[in-house]
Amino acid sequence: MQRYSAPKGTKDILSSSVAAWQYAESTARRVFEAYGFGEIRTPIFEQSEVFMRGIGEDTDVVGKEMYTFNDKKGRSMTLRPEGTAGVCRALIESGTLNGPLPVKSYYIGSFFRYEQPQDGRQREFHQIGVEQYGATTPMADAEIIILLVRLFEEFGIKDTVLHLSSLGCADCRAKFKAELIAFIEKSSDRLCGDCNRRFTTNPLRVLDCKNESCSELVEDAPSMLDFLCEGCSDHFEELQRLLGMTDVKYKLDRKLVRGLDYYSRTVFELKHDRAGAAKTLTGGGRYDGLSKQLGGPDISGIGFALGVERLMLTLAAEGILDSITQNNPQLYLAAADKEGEAKAFTLANELRTKGFRVIYNISGKGVKAQLKEAGRLGCGYCTVIGETEVLKGEVTLRNMNDKDSPEVSVSINEIAEFLSKNI
Ligand code: HAM
Repeated sequence: MQRYSAPKGTKDILSSSVAAWQYAESTARRVFEAYGFGEIRTPIFEQSEVFMRGIGEDTDVVGKEMYTFNDKKGRSMTLRPEGTAGVCRALIESGTLNGPLPVKSYYIGSFFRYEQPQDGRQREFHQIGVEQYGATTPMADAEIIILLVRLFEEFGIKDTVLHLSSLGCADCRAKFKAELIAFIEKSSDRLCGDCNRRFTTNPLRVLDCKNESCSELVEDAPSMLDFLCEGCSDHFEELQRLLGMTDVKYKLDRKLVRGLDYYSRTVFELKHDRAGAAKTLTGGGRYDGLSKQLGGPDISGIGFALGVERLMLTLAAEGILDSITQNNPQLYLAAADKEGEAKAFTLANELRTKGFRVIYNISGKGVKAQLKEAGRLGCGYCTVIGETEVLKGEVTLRNMNDKDSPEVSVSINEIAEFLSKNI
């Protein structure tokens, strides 16, 4: 019989490991909401043009990694490779960007890039991200960066390194690009095929090309930080002054360019040595031209997205995964006979309605096997109910997490109260 496996570059997240994902998601929701962000959910696929115009046709993401297909009417569609462009499209289409600003949105979901799978790099991966539209001040950038750093503190992850830079605006970047092209041109014979084609139109892509020869070539390339115009330089200085007023530590990274074309001014990445081969847990920055580029109002934006698979690798490496507990059942109602079975059936449903996590035997197992199952499922308490317990209206509860603690007799009517107090 044919057996099927998950497509290359995708992974099932089974119930046994989902607790850590829920921990990451609920922590992120709590932190984001404290900063005034509300959740947004956009389609998994968009018209391809949203990404081509938004992210840039010269980028690796658009040029090589998109899952693009024609629908039945021959329209080109793409599985979302990232969240920023789709969120921008949704906020323009709904008219949100014409309303009161700033707008603060967050998202959690799957994204798709046709990349060579490796540690922390998949074809279907998950991101948790935020986007803020409408506030251009350095204070807005500081808020996003502080939010990112606090989020990782809440995850319990230490030793992250925040890399920070500025890519300037279209004006100052034009001067930088001209210098960069002149620098690259001197050794253009060492460029990979892609960079050879794009270095005169989009030289910044050479700076983040993964090809070894290209990265060696740009080792001593000029840095955007030396070309910032007065406005961009003041913005960046003020951001650093604001961060200096907090305990957020960062490293000025003269080489940071990011892999997507929409960025302007502030860019940042959060790295950790144990976050997989690429080491980058989060990438983000300002994208002041994106809304206009996608046909919306000329409104600034800034945000970041973290890779959940890389977060999981880091949580595991830091020993945090072990302390994340599953929402195991609180009570196992084992049945000793027909009377016990009937009571377990009604009682379990009563307790479940009150919000307790309760399991009873639905497979006709014997008492011994039921108790074994209670252990396997990690139930907090277990009890055996039979005719005697039903007649007495009382059960004996055993604490499954502390074998030495004495068994407790509890009236059947008071089990809910007992669980509330003891779990
Ligand atoms: P990005 O740097 O392309 O930025 O991706 C953000 C994060 O997603 C990365 O740092 C990494 O953790 C994770 N990631 C990316 N590709 C993969 C992959 N193939 N497998 C596993 N994890 C991956 C963006 O996507 C921007 N939209 C971020 C942003 C939001 N900028 C402003 N707002």
